[in-house]
Amino acid sequence: MKESWDKLANKFNTHKDDEIDPGAADNIVIAWPVILSEINKNFKQNNNEVLDYGCGTGGFSNKLNSLGFKVTGMDISNEMINIAKSNSPKEIDYLVGDTSKLKNINKKFDLIVSIMVFQFIDDIQKHVSIFNELLNKNGILIFAVFNPEIIKQYSKKGIDFAKIEKYKDIEMSNIKLKKNILIPVYIRSERDYKNIFEKYSFIHKFTEYPPFTEEFVKKYGWTDPYDVPEFMIMTFEKKELYNNE
Ligand SMILES: C[S@@+](CC[C@H](N)C(=O)[O-])C[C@H]1O[C@@H](n2cnc3c(N)ncnc32)[C@H](O)[C@@H]1O
Repeated sequence: MKESWDKLANKFNTHKDDEIDPGAADNIVIAWPVILSEINKNFKQNNNEVLDYGCGTGGFSNKLNSLGFKVTGMDISNEMINIAKSNSPKEIDYLVGDTSKLKNINKKFDLIVSIMVFQFIDDIQKHVSIFNELLNKNGILIFAVFNPEIIKQYSKKGIDFAKIEKYKDIEMSNIKLKKNILIPVYIRSERDYKNIFEKYSFIHKFTEYPPFTEEFVKKYGWTDPYDVPEFMIMTFEKKELYNNE
């Protein structure tokens, strides 16, 4: 899968002077404002340690850095990280790899953000258990994934997504992000994510499905369907429960 993401690095380059690809701009225009508002709600000061997991070319890592956070960006694709590094200030710490590498990291985080990544991971439970270890008490984890409903609509209409099939105990599809590049997408509902996170003492705090804006649809020529929100954004808090709580 890493090789496929390497080939997609240019598509997800958010530092271009000319137009950003609509498939990357949607994160910025529609998902970022909700995520930033969640961060604002949960952090009075912005000097905390944050992990941007699956940071891609580092657009959001830069945003977090500009807000004052101490940022670590991680991505499995070294092509993504190369673009991120050449477009970021030195104080952002970029790492190539996945959670298996984070087990030995000598750092704890107050915030983990992950934008449009969890849906590409089949063993998400293993990742959540590692995020749990990496977060400080009362740490916050915010993520955006595809709203399952839009995957179903696109798949039914034959747009970008292949037919939905069963994988182990969940549904999955494949998304065509570029000619000849198909990436597996695991379809989890809000309830599925709650069940997974609650196993690791996380408390659910927030879910939002921000709608497409007219401005975005017009500017990027986004084609139907856009009546169903593309994103599902969720916030969880790490809560250690004691006998007297
Ligand atoms: C759709 S892009 C989103 C990138 C970035 N978060 C953004 O919003 O622009 C998904 C990113 O997840 C990364 N990725 C996929 N699977 C991963 C994994 N298991 N661990 C870390 N990163 C992963 C890919 O390399 C890619 O950069």
